[in-house]
Amino acid sequence: MIMTTHIDEVMRARHSVRKYDADVRIPEADLQHILEMAATAPSSWNLQHWRFLTIQEAANKQRLLPIAYNQQQIVDSSAVIVILGDAEANLVAGDVYGPALASGYISQQVHDTLVGNIEQAYASSSAFGREEAIRNASLAAMQLMLAAKAKGYDTCPIGGFNREQLAEAFNIPTRYVPVMIITVGQASAPAHGTGRFPLTHSVINETF
Ligand SMILES: Cc1cc2nc3c(=O)[nH]c(=O)nc-3n(C[C@H](O)[C@H](O)[C@H](O)COP(=O)(O)O)c2cc1C
Repeated sequence: MIMTTHIDEVMRARHSVRKYDADVRIPEADLQHILEMAATAPSSWNLQHWRFLTIQEAANKQRLLPIAYNQQQIVDSSAVIVILGDAEANLVAGDVYGPALASGYISQQVHDTLVGNIEQAYASSSAFGREEAIRNASLAAMQLMLAAKAKGYDTCPIGGFNREQLAEAFNIPTRYVPVMIITVGQASAPAHGTGRFPLTHSVINETF
């Protein structure tokens, strides 16, 4: 049986909005809710690689504008969220698994195996931590956009920005990889229409 669910409607309604009503301020409670929902995303070993750098002050948006190649939605949206990924997420393994051990959810042996696996994986190659950061933070980014839409806000994911300049301008420690910028606000004009390939283009059954 095919059912149309609320999540389907939200997914279909989300589009990248680039024109915003610049006078709208997002109530703090709405922003917190959206970020909280974003952070329900799954992550490898539950290391929760995402960090959300929130920018709402006009001066900071102006600073970001040229770094994002003058994309006007940076200054017109109500909030700009820079999605960062933790490339050294192994360092929080103790914070994730220590409490689980202390409360008896996992045994010492399971704890040591998990933490050992994490350390081994992060030591395996210099690219591993960075790839994990981008992969896992991207899941939170998607959830953020859907949570915003469900709350009546529009968003635009932005990959077009200078990573080095962003890190320098906002004092982002090298540990955190800038993954994407997301603008959030009330649309003043609808997104331009986009289509999707049919599944025959995108789905490969069993093997190429
Ligand atoms: C990783 C990523 C980077 C993107 N970068 C930009 C960008 O720099 N500027 C922009 O206007 N749109 C950007 N977009 C939005 C895409 O153009 C948009 O998602 C795509 O055309 C599909 O349209 P829709 O989101 O409205 O359905 C980006 C989207 C993604 C996922």
